[in-house]
Amino acid sequence: MTYIPILISLVLASASLHAKSQIPAAISCASKYGIPVQAKSGGHSYASYSTGGHNGILMIDLENFNSVSLDNRTGIAAVGGGVRLGNLAQGIWDQGRRALGHGTCPGVGIGGHFTHGGYGYSSRAFGLALEQIIGLDLVLANGSFVKIDNETLGDVYYALRGAADSFGIVTTFYLQTSTAPEVDIKFSYSFPQALDSIENATAVFMGVQKFSLYSPVVGRNLGLGVTLGGNATSYTVHGTWFGSSSVELTDRITSLAMLGGEGNLTVPLHGFLQQDNFYAKSVSTNVSFAEEPIRKFSEYAYSAGRGLNAPISWFSIISLYGSPDSQIGAEGKNGSWAAYSGFDDLWVVQNCENRSYNAYLNYIDPELDRDEAWHLYYGKPLFEKTEFGEKRPRSWRCLLESAEHPCLE
Ligand SMILES: *[C@@H]1O[C@H](CO)[C@@H](O)[C@H](O)[C@H]1NC(C)=O
Ligand SMILES: *[C@@H]1O[C@H](CO)[C@@H](O)[C@H](O)[C@H]1NC(C)=O
Ligand SMILES: *[C@@H]1O[C@H](CO)[C@@H](O)[C@H](O)[C@H]1NC(C)=O
Ligand SMILES: *[C@@H]1O[C@H](CO)[C@@H](O)[C@H](O)[C@H]1NC(C)=O
Ligand SMILES: *[C@@H]1O[C@H](CO)[C@@H](O)[C@H](O)[C@H]1NC(C)=O
Ligand SMILES: *[C@@H]1O[C@H](CO)[C@@H](O)[C@H](O)[C@H]1NC(C)=O
Ligand SMILES: *[C@@H]1O[C@H](CO)[C@@H](O)[C@H](O)[C@H]1NC(C)=O
Ligand SMILES: *[C@@H]1O[C@H](CO)[C@@H](O)[C@H](O)[C@H]1NC(C)=O
Ligand SMILES: *[C@@H]1O[C@H](CO)[C@@H](O)[C@H](O)[C@H]1NC(C)=O
Repeated sequence: MTYIPILISLVLASASLHAKSQIPAAISCASKYGIPVQAKSGGHSYASYSTGGHNGILMIDLENFNSVSLDNRTGIAAVGGGVRLGNLAQGIWDQGRRALGHGTCPGVGIGGHFTHGGYGYSSRAFGLALEQIIGLDLVLANGSFVKIDNETLGDVYYALRGAADSFGIVTTFYLQTSTAPEVDIKFSYSFPQALDSIENATAVFMGVQKFSLYSPVVGRNLGLGVTLGGNATSYTVHGTWFGSSSVELTDRITSLAMLGGEGNLTVPLHGFLQQDNFYAKSVSTNVSFAEEPIRKFSEYAYSAGRGLNAPISWFSIISLYGSPDSQIGAEGKNGSWAAYSGFDDLWVVQNCENRSYNAYLNYIDPELDRDEAWHLYYGKPLFEKTEFGEKRPRSWRCLLESAEHPCLE
């Protein structure tokens, strides 16, 4: 999907007075002419919301907010709002052998990923991307440049972690990094027998789920997902393991580079352009799958005329978020801790089955209407925290209107 912004504001440089004045200037200019504003970090939104989701917005491009600076005494990294995940991982590794939990695609920008959850294989060890945020520098709708954390403008800080797009433009993320694992093993295990029959496909998934929930070897060091790849012509369990083993060993950077599929983790700071056309739906569940829906899913995937000869190519990834010792949502985090509802997810799937599931923000689906999106992505308790109901402005409008109608009051 492509949308045509009315104007693109490429803010000059981070950490300078220019940057601090340019974003407020752009916002107030847009506000004056009634133009919606959208910040772009990396531009990986599934629905192209980084270019506004419709034509005629003012896009504020954060490409120049590209610095990564680690305080290797506290382990806190100050990271520009336009940094891509590969450069983030490489930067904190180079500066102090540190690591963060985040996704695998090196080109994804930090902005949407870290403020809407942010999952990768290392999330079960370090928590979701947003759980590692400890403070933010941002520009509010009224043009104020503020530094927030759980004690300063705590309400805004709460909202930013899950629903940032409605409340401000993050120029710097302060992230609590962890010591990088000494050994980071990327594994991939193929189950050809899952392709033989519906029974086998069902049995393999139920086996993987049983292993994930009950095996004593499963702990936070393991991250895994099940992939039906190439239109269900392959069935693979893949992931990472922090720790020694007799299999091929790599360090964290090599492992991440392999996962990213590019052979190199660093992404050009300017002029990076990779495009893909696809459509995704997600479902997430906080309880284990019963055998019946898995059988139905397998039937669908392996049926002639359906999954097997779909008119377009497809894949499905079922990622393990929860199960024993997962650090995602550790210490009983829930929707009171941040504006995010998926802390107790067990599996997050990019596929659909008709039951009351939730969905995952970073697999955003532009076909959902507003109410459906709010309920699926945020859940009822968080939805009820908003006071706008039907009158609630669209998220981009909050930015412009909040001077008169603060989004949080
Ligand atoms: C931390 O930073 C200091 C100063 O840049 C450097 O001398 C030291 O080697 C760094 N420590 C690690 C673990 O990278
Ligand atoms: C903008 O809003 C913030 C948060 O409510 C407030 O602290 C600040 O004083 C406001 N700035 C202006 C210029 O109104
Ligand atoms: C804010 O976070 C810090 C560090 O994580 C913690 O020590 C402090 O108690 C928290 N404050 C509140 C009000 O939650
Ligand atoms: C199912 O998997 C088993 C091994 O787990 C294999 O022996 C069998 O041939 C497979 N195919 C069918 C149709 O059951
Ligand atoms: C998947 O299906 C599409 C459309 O039928 C086809 O173009 C593509 O080559 C298939 N991919 C694989 C790996 O079979
Ligand atoms: C990785 O990419 C960076 C920037 O794109 C480049 O400078 C570097 O030489 C590359 N490294 C390797 C090993 O290809
Ligand atoms: C799972 O989610 C549902 C719906 O959001 C909720 O009612 C239920 O309490 C949750 N169950 C567990 C075990 O967390
Ligand atoms: C969320 O967590 C807080 C603090 O741990 C707890 O007091 C509250 O009851 C929880 N809320 C729900 C809906 O589980
Ligand atoms: C799916 O669920 C919706 C809402 O619960 C219901 O209206 C619809 O009929 C269901 N569809 C199927 C195919 O079961």
